[in-house]
Parts: sequence; structure tokens; C-alpha cells
Amino acid sequence: MRKEDVDHSLYLVTDSTPAILGDKDICAVVEAALRGGVTCVQYRDKTSDTGALVATARRLHAITQRHDVPLLINDRIDVALAIGCEGVHIGQDDLDLSSARKLLGPDAIIGVTVSNAEETDVACKGGADYLGIGTVFATPTKENTKSIIGVDGLQQILLQIADEPIKTVCIGGINASNASRVMWQSEAPGGKGKALDGVAVVSAIMAAPDPEEASWDLLRLVRSPPAFARAAVTAEQQARSPEDLLALVPEVVRAVDAKKPLSHNMTNLVVQNFAANVALSVGASPIMANYGEEARDLAMLGGALVLNMGTVTPKGLENYLKALRAYNEAGRPVVFDPVGAGATAVRRAATKTILGSGYIDVLKGNQSEILSCIPGGAEVQQRGVDSSAPGNDADRQKLGSAIRELAVRRRNVVVMTGKTDYITAGRAVFTVDNGHAYLGMVTGTGCCLGTTVSAMVAAYPDDKLAAVVAGLLLYSIAAEVAAEREDVKGPGTFVPAFIDELFNLRKATAKGDLGWLERARLGVLP
Ligand SMILES: *[C@@H]1O[C@H](CO)[C@@H](O)[C@H](O)[C@H]1NC(C)=O
Ligand SMILES: *[C@@H]1O[C@H](CO)[C@@H](O)[C@H](O)[C@H]1NC(C)=O
Ligand SMILES: *[C@@H]1O[C@H](CO)[C@@H](O)[C@H](O)[C@H]1NC(C)=O
Ligand SMILES: *[C@@H]1O[C@H](CO)[C@@H](O)[C@H](O)[C@H]1NC(C)=O
Repeated sequence: MRKEDVDHSLYLVTDSTPAILGDKDICAVVEAALRGGVTCVQYRDKTSDTGALVATARRLHAITQRHDVPLLINDRIDVALAIGCEGVHIGQDDLDLSSARKLLGPDAIIGVTVSNAEETDVACKGGADYLGIGTVFATPTKENTKSIIGVDGLQQILLQIADEPIKTVCIGGINASNASRVMWQSEAPGGKGKALDGVAVVSAIMAAPDPEEASWDLLRLVRSPPAFARAAVTAEQQARSPEDLLALVPEVVRAVDAKKPLSHNMTNLVVQNFAANVALSVGASPIMANYGEEARDLAMLGGALVLNMGTVTPKGLENYLKALRAYNEAGRPVVFDPVGAGATAVRRAATKTILGSGYIDVLKGNQSEILSCIPGGAEVQQRGVDSSAPGNDADRQKLGSAIRELAVRRRNVVVMTGKTDYITAGRAVFTVDNGHAYLGMVTGTGCCLGTTVSAMVAAYPDDKLAAVVAGLLLYSIAAEVAAEREDVKGPGTFVPAFIDELFNLRKATAKGDLGWLERARLGVLP
């Protein structure tokens, strides 16, 4: 087999420790895994004596050869040479790449474990054939987990090597629950970064009751995009003008009116009545369920999930993650509102965990919250973009490119609220200049906007960009209309009027009366 032809889709790393292998025979497990479709095998055994290593490697090689799959030996170049297998995999603490290449020759496959930019650079320049990038998630199989990089770190490395002719797999904590997501989420769209060639797994196959079936399942997951990827915003949808989007607003609002989608809200905020009333007014069916276990059933009901980080507790976070997984699996939209993200270490960590644990369809927050979700976003903040100022063109551009980058990396829709609201799915950055100062004087308005947006994406899931724009316009124009009413004297009387106007605008739209949309100030950054 020529090394260029090696398929890295499902890369099995063996583990002979009793905790993983049990009392099974390693060769039997590998054989079953190959029948299930494993495309590459690495024999990893850090404890056996050289004699035993060579004997087992030889048996494994006979098996992998029958399946026309390469066998690589972890670290032990001597063992690879002794049995004449296809190559080796070396870690950062093992023999260096150029010595390995000298010993094994130009045709051998040599892979290197990398976890940061520098190691990646050295491995690429040194002529590695593929990279094992990780550790992606914490895992009990590798004792030394000093470098958990998450999907973000993985993507960063894939961006770095966009133009390198090198193969890649990720490793660390990958199993059937996250293989498909990690493949899809780590790739920056639009050809900006490399796509992974596959995933490397250890216990997901070695410890599986049925390694053949586990392999078959994993290979299918690696090769098919996750459920939520089907409804990602397309390039054509992003290429539309503000006028095109505006024309869709009535359709979105009517879809909510007709479908009464479930808005499943997980939060602990103290704005109960307000949030539920807003949901009802825009036409959604609010349900507040904070138990993760329930989410699986609720996700099947055609609604959307709102994760609102009003307060964070470890138990709450666990429930959020369960719900996130359930909605991701069902391919139903998730709106995440990282309230106060960046304000405290606890909130920073919780935000990072949520963003790293699943796919968020719409990320919504104010300027400081959104910027704290961007690698380097704090800098943009410090460089003096002032959210209370009217914003000059340079500021708008700076903010626009920061959130565009965020949306590209997350492959989702980002909404940054403020005096001007910004919306992007990674290309055009749309702006909404509607709203009223009263919105900022009442608690819970940010959270209720999340609910409104969730209703729109639930009812109009195939065009999330239009859905989000519709939600923002409905919400901010209802605020303007309410604030102008004669019975509204200030923030207190504003709230009931606002809820009325959300309802009125929806009902008017359902009847075909679209006068309110003439107020829309929807633009796009040049
Ligand atoms: C993946 O691994 C996690 C943690 O070990 C486990 O909770 C989960 O059930 C596994 N999922 C699948 C589909 O194997
Ligand atoms: C969201 O959950 C909060 C949590 O207490 C609740 O007060 C609010 O009514 C819920 N909103 C909706 C729209 O379900
Ligand atoms: C964003 O919202 C948080 C939480 O409500 C608040 O503490 C913060 O001051 C807001 N930041 C901006 C820039 O509005
Ligand atoms: C799968 O993904 C989750 C994050 O969603 C991660 O915490 C976990 O360690 C991963 N691996 C397993 C085996 O669960």
C-alpha cells in the first residue's frame, strides 16, 4: 500500500491494559474492529517486554495485512523494524522525527502527536505523514492529559495547516457521542482550514462489548455530518441583501403564529412572568424545564432550546449539557445566551464548557458577552470599542470583523446586541438600528429576546439567518411602538405595553398588515 492511499477515517489505537481490554484477546478485538471497518491500526503498549511486543505486533500485522490496512507501532521503532510493518506513531517524548525517518526510510508512515502550534510546525516541517491532534477531551485512557485542547484548539491547529499536504486525525475522548460533531465543528468553512481526515479512538472500540459493531457505527458517524449540520446557514442565504431578508420577515412571524413552537427555556432568572408572557405574545409555547433528563423527550417536539446562563451552578451546568446533547441529536435549534460571560472565572469556564460540549445554532449576547466568547475578543474590547458610544464606522468595522470571525469558527449565527444589533453567520454582517432606551431599563429584556429568537428559529429552522433577523426586528420595533404610546410614562408602564405590542404586531402580520415593518432599519456593514 502506498502511504498516500492510507485512509485515516477510523484509526484504532490499541490498549492492552486490563481496565480497557478486559480478558479479551487483543488480536481478536482488532480483527473484529477491522471487520467493522477500521481503516488504520496503531499498536500501543507501554508496558510489555520487547519480546512480547514483537510477538504480538507480528500477529497483529498478519491480521491487518489480510484487511489491507496499515499497522503502525507506537513509539517503538525497533519493533516496527523487526516485523516490517508500515510505520510508527511517535509522541512528543519519543524519539525525534528525523531520527525515526532515517531509521525507517522514506516509504514508512510516520505520525506525530501534536497539541500546539509549535509542535505542529515542527512535525510538518520535519515531514510527518499525518498528525494525531489532541488531547481533544479529557479521558481516562491516557494518564498524561496535560494538554486538553478541546474542539477550539483542534480547529486552531487545522487553520494553521490549511495549506500543508498532511493528513490529520484527532484523538482523546472521542466516542460515538461526539465523533460526528468533532469532525464537522473543527472544520472552518469556506476552505479556511483543513478538514480532519478521521478520528482516532481507543476505548470506544477496545472496551466495546462488540468491537465490530462499535467500529461500524463509528465509521458511519465519521462519514456523515451531524443532525444539526443539515440546517447550517448556507452561503447563498448569507449573500442576500437586507431587502431580501426584510421581505422574509412576515413569513417567519406567520410561521411562529401558525406553529406555536415550543420554546424550551433553561434558566434560573427572576423574570418569570415577563419571559413567559413574551413567549406567548410572539406566538411560542413556553416551557420551563430545568431537568436534563426531560430534554430528550422535549427535543422531539419540534421546538428550540434556550440556554440562559442567568446563574451557574455545577448541577445546572450538567443539566444544560444534557439538554444541549439531546437537542443536537434531534437536530433542533439551540440558542445560547452567555449572560455575564467573562465577568467572573466561573462564568468564563461555564461558557467555555457549553460552547465546547455541543453545537450552538444561535449565540446571542451583548458586546462584552460576545467578545468574551472570541479568542482575542477581550483585546477588541480593550482597544477601546465603547458599547455606550454611538459608534463610528471604524468601531463598527472592528466589531463586525470580530463577530464574523466568531461565527465562522463556530459555524453558527452570532447576534451581538447593543445600540446597534449585529447579526452574522460568517459573511455579511447585518445591523438593526431599532429599539428603545426603555428596553435597557427593565431587567430580563435580553433574556426575552433570546426567547423570541428561539421561537423564530424553531418555526423557521431552514433559514436561521432570516429567522434571527425577524426576531430582532419584531422585538425592537414592538418596543418602539410601545414606547410611543400615550399610556406609557416610563419603564414600568412600558413593560405591559411592550407585551401587548409584541402580540399586536404578530396578529397584524398574520392578517397581512405589514405597516410596522416600514420602521425597520436593517442594514449591512460595507
Ligand atoms: C461516550 O463516553 C461517555 C463518557 O465515557 C459516555 O458517558 C457515553 O455514554 C459514551 N457514548 C457513547 C455513544 O458511547
Ligand atoms: C424561562 O425560565 C424562567 C426560569 O425561571 C422562567 O421564569 C420563564 O418563565 C421561562 N420563560 C419561558 C419563555 O419559558
Ligand atoms: C452585558 O450584560 C451583562 C449582564 O447582564 C452586564 O453585566 C454587562 O454590563 C453588559 N455589557 C454591556 C457592554 O452592555
Ligand atoms: C465527548 O464529548 C464530550 C463533550 O461533549 C466530552 O466531555 C467527552 O469527554 C467526550 N468523550 C466522551 C468519551 O464522552
